[in-house]
Amino acid sequence: MIKKTAEILVTGGAGYIGSHTCVALIQAGFMPVIVDNLSNSHPLAISRIEAITGTRPAFYKCDIADATGLGTVLERHSCAATIHFAGLKAVGRSVSEPLETYRENVCGTLSLLQTLKSRGIKRLIFSSSATVYGGAEHMPIPETASIQPTNPYGHSKAMIEQILQDLVTAAPDLGIGVLRYFNPVGAHVSGEIGEDPQGIPDNLFPFVSQVAVGRRETLQVFGNDYDTKDGTGVRDYIHVMDLADGHVAALQRCLDTDGLFAVNLGTGQGSSVLDIIKAFEIASGRPVPYEVVGRRPGDVATSFADPSKASEMLNFKAKRDLAQMCRDAWNWQQRNPTGYANR
Ligand code: NAD
Ligand code: UD1
Repeated sequence: MIKKTAEILVTGGAGYIGSHTCVALIQAGFMPVIVDNLSNSHPLAISRIEAITGTRPAFYKCDIADATGLGTVLERHSCAATIHFAGLKAVGRSVSEPLETYRENVCGTLSLLQTLKSRGIKRLIFSSSATVYGGAEHMPIPETASIQPTNPYGHSKAMIEQILQDLVTAAPDLGIGVLRYFNPVGAHVSGEIGEDPQGIPDNLFPFVSQVAVGRRETLQVFGNDYDTKDGTGVRDYIHVMDLADGHVAALQRCLDTDGLFAVNLGTGQGSSVLDIIKAFEIASGRPVPYEVVGRRPGDVATSFADPSKASEMLNFKAKRDLAQMCRDAWNWQQRNPTGYANR
């Protein structure tokens, strides 16, 4: 049994999901040690974690592929486990620049795993994605659905999952949790931390927030001719703080149990693009003007999780509803209209 005050290495801990998970870790009694190269995040996130929790996590600006730099961090901190968020997540860019995605995600993870092995750190939680299921035919999607990614980003996640499986086969005393996220959205209720995409957002939620706050004029709805209740795409949106709580639950299991487990983190509820627009208008009290355009290449009609394995194995269930996801995203957006660069 590992003591709860254990230090936990958090790669990518300054990023969107990582920063929220650091808050949940601190509140659960763990001490995050953040390693992030800040390629897609801002150092202010660390001060904001401190503002929320009263604890400043250790932070090192370091790339996961820098074995020497990471080695120095791990000499200073005796980490009981790693939560590995660091990597590239833009699907479109992974299609245009596949080598970059494979280098950062696959080679970066290999280098990290080598460093962890040399330091004897045997417990790991990995950020995978529902994108590994590709265009799954049956809903809800259980973990046993076939792995059939449709783009280099998804392939990079599936490759890392395979590497982790092979690692556990070779060394059964490792404890590894693979978490397949559905669509993380929202922000910490304080509005101190949230999603801060660079440039034009690729994803629905940050785009809707930026339209509501007046930073962009109109949302484009990508298709209203899908076989769904209102013709627009249906997804399983999960509050980022629920996702963060899911990491703490997964960490607790992986600290105590050898072997590898893979679980979905979703709510099991599907919401359409029009549902999101309506819910956001209510939460913000602002109109979200939109126009329907053609489908986005690569999109599927519907994707939502079967969340029962996480419930049985980790005793984890998402608690926050769509209204709260919208309220918290809106609070973050209003308090930080241009993201962290605001202050
Ligand atoms: P994010 O970009 O906000 O966070 C990733 C963090 O990793 C950033 O702070 C970035 O600076 C850092 N980073 C990137 N490459 C690095 C490297 N080589 N060395 C050190 N740090 C590095 O993304 P996020 O939304 O918080 O996603 C976290 C993880 O979850 C990613 O692995 C992503 O693929 C996965 N994921 C995200 C979503 C989502 O919708 N946000 C869905 C499924 C899976
Ligand atoms: C996308 C990625 C997925 C990744 C996830 C992270 C693709 C094909 N998939 O998922 O790999 O894990 O982000 O959250 O890129 N929409 C609009 N207008 C917009 C943006 C989106 O109508 O401006 C619609 C989409 O068509 C979709 C829904 O909103 O129906 C959600 O889109 P998005 O937030 O981009 O998430 P996913 O496509 O599910």
